[in-house]
Amino acid sequence: MKCAIILAGGKGTRMKTDSPKVMCEVIFEPMIKYVIDAVKEAGAEDICVITGYRHEVVEGYLASYDSKIKTALQEPQLGTGHAVMQARDFISAHKNDDILILNGDGPLMDADTINKAYAYHTENKNVITLVSAIVSDTNGIGHIKRDENGTLLRIVEHKDATDEEKLINESNAGVYWFNGASLLYALDNITNNNVQNEYYLTDSLEILIGKGENAGAYVCENYEAVLGANDRKQLNDLNNIMRRNINDRLMVSGVDIQCTDGVMIGKDVKIGNSTRILPNTIILGNTVIGDNCVIGPNTWISDSTIGSDVILDNCKITDSTVEDGVDCGPFVKVRANSVLKKGVHIGNFVEVKNSIVGEGTKSAHLTYIGDSDVGKNVNFGCGTVTCNYDGKNKTRCKIGDGAFIGCNTNLIAPVEVGELAYIAAGSTITDDIPNEALSVARARQVNKEGWVAKKKPYKNQK
Ligand code: UD1
Ligand code: CA
Repeated sequence: MKCAIILAGGKGTRMKTDSPKVMCEVIFEPMIKYVIDAVKEAGAEDICVITGYRHEVVEGYLASYDSKIKTALQEPQLGTGHAVMQARDFISAHKNDDILILNGDGPLMDADTINKAYAYHTENKNVITLVSAIVSDTNGIGHIKRDENGTLLRIVEHKDATDEEKLINESNAGVYWFNGASLLYALDNITNNNVQNEYYLTDSLEILIGKGENAGAYVCENYEAVLGANDRKQLNDLNNIMRRNINDRLMVSGVDIQCTDGVMIGKDVKIGNSTRILPNTIILGNTVIGDNCVIGPNTWISDSTIGSDVILDNCKITDSTVEDGVDCGPFVKVRANSVLKKGVHIGNFVEVKNSIVGEGTKSAHLTYIGDSDVGKNVNFGCGTVTCNYDGKNKTRCKIGDGAFIGCNTNLIAPVEVGELAYIAAGSTITDDIPNEALSVARARQVNKEGWVAKKKPYKNQK
């Protein structure tokens, strides 16, 4: 059985934030999410996360993301080796298994690399296999030290390295496969005899080699997979790489992105063929988009399902469903479990909240549809407002198929408009309207002839 330990106890001082480093975000998701996903994709069935600094934040996230993930608390935080020591019970339960250990701040590590390292680990009957890569910036890395024949010796942390060792450009990725029993042995022998007085997990390599065990390094061709983030600048680098990787993958699969400026798409988002994504468009969470849509510019979509042939121009769509052939925008907000059925047209400055809007219904401008059940082929005049909130309670409006809502109508919920009912412009509707009735709910117009000449209401009027 494959299992994994993810290190997430560090503070991340250089991020200059209150939150634990692993909660810093890449494309709007905490770094640790990517590590968990990669580990699961690689087949790990039992996962333990080491928490420490502000552990309640990480634990809260894990509980909401996957309640099966175990945690072990590291307090105080005395280094990566000390972090793993807190998972002794977990390791003991897996002492005959292969245990994967990864830093929680390396979101670009992927299942493919993890699996290739695993194959290397088992083929060579290693008790420890680490992942390494050749990097251009050697600042702050763990340098992989080998002898003149290329045989692994140990890992030297940058802070402990001699000037000569600092030139070694093979970097420890912070991703390791261990045999469970050997890991327990290594943990018993790690000391904090180094510049930082920390217990380094990396010392396991030298300890196990010293015991005469097989050890290896899987050199990863994709050096980006091993990058971590210690400060905001590096976090931005990771964001840019992740963004490029996701956009590239989508383009290869048939998504049309002529200009990637401002296009940020979450890793779990699915987009169909020939859908065009225009600049400054952010698509996140569990969003699925069909074929032949035009999304953007300046559009935000999260946790929503969008059909095919949909146009979303300058829209914000959250937690909602937009069916085939819908056309929204510019400047439209759709939220809170709304459903726009097939062929709906929503024009500028319209908000739809917690409502179902039936097939072919049109709301071309300046309208609020909240907590409403709207039928098919309804026409909303400009400036319609569903008055769904009385200061205490929210109640619903129901609008029947084919109804015509005149401009500047207020529908005071709860109220029901019948099928094909016709509401005169400027009405404030407080009572239900029967099917096919005309409803006029406004004061009658009075024209007073000659009133201006008589009253002289204007300044400077002679
Ligand atoms: C570590 C490695 C280094 C490697 C680099 C790759 C060690 C000693 N060094 O250095 O060889 O090149 O990763 O990115 O392992 N953490 C804890 N508890 C602690 C300290 C850290 O849980 O007491 C966690 C952090 O939250 C982080 C991970 O361990 O997710 C790595 O810690 P970090 O301090 O970033 O290690 P590096 O200095 O980057
Ligand atoms: Ca790090």
